[in-house]
Amino acid sequence: MKNSTHNPKEVTGRQAAQLVKENMVVGLGTGSTTAYAIKELGRRVAEGLKMLGVPTSYQSAFLAAGNGIPLTTLDEHPMLDIDIDGADQVANFVAIKGGGAAHTREKIVARSARKFVVVVDESKMSALLNHTVPLEVIPFARKLVEKEVEELGGTTEVRMGVSKDGPVISDNGNFILDADFGAIHDPASLDIALSQCTGIVEHGIFMNLDVVYIGKKDGTVEIMEM
Ligand code: 5RP
Repeated sequence: MKNSTHNPKEVTGRQAAQLVKENMVVGLGTGSTTAYAIKELGRRVAEGLKMLGVPTSYQSAFLAAGNGIPLTTLDEHPMLDIDIDGADQVANFVAIKGGGAAHTREKIVARSARKFVVVVDESKMSALLNHTVPLEVIPFARKLVEKEVEELGGTTEVRMGVSKDGPVISDNGNFILDADFGAIHDPASLDIALSQCTGIVEHGIFMNLDVVYIGKKDGTVEIMEM
């Protein structure tokens, strides 16, 4: 599909929002690409679309509320019809997420959805994952996690705030450590290994994406389905 605007994040976000149908319960991801999907959903709600959103962060909750999207919770709606979210890098239907420090709630929402749709611009697509992997870490466990990651062959850096002195604090009250493993040839094994580390609440490797919407500079969107 060709679009009049050539902002790849905008075209992919807006196009993915068309997957939402009447009475769906929808996971609302975090980040600048998903923000376009949320705004488009707000526009459709104003036109009469009935839907409920489950936000993955304060950012998406504020944005959704500001755009008139009625919100619900996983307690009230434990199973979602669809989740639309961004990513920092995608290769072979595996994503690295957490650039906005929201990957814990994002993964919970993604796992609660029948369909997980990732929206990215083409710069995020890669043949091989090599982006740093965000780790949400209990502050008390920081030193232990640094050692655990080192044993897995990685190095870590505590993510620092912008417009805030000191570390980033996640929406859940934890630190974010960005772990560098270089090229990740076996994301499935790293997924399991990081999940087994003590002190890591959640990591940013997302396996088994269902659909990827890729916004191109020429205004088209490529859709890849698992
Ligand atoms: C937040 C995320 C974002 O979805 C990811 O960082 C992509 O953001 P953007 O669409 O702004 O590039 O994982 O935790």
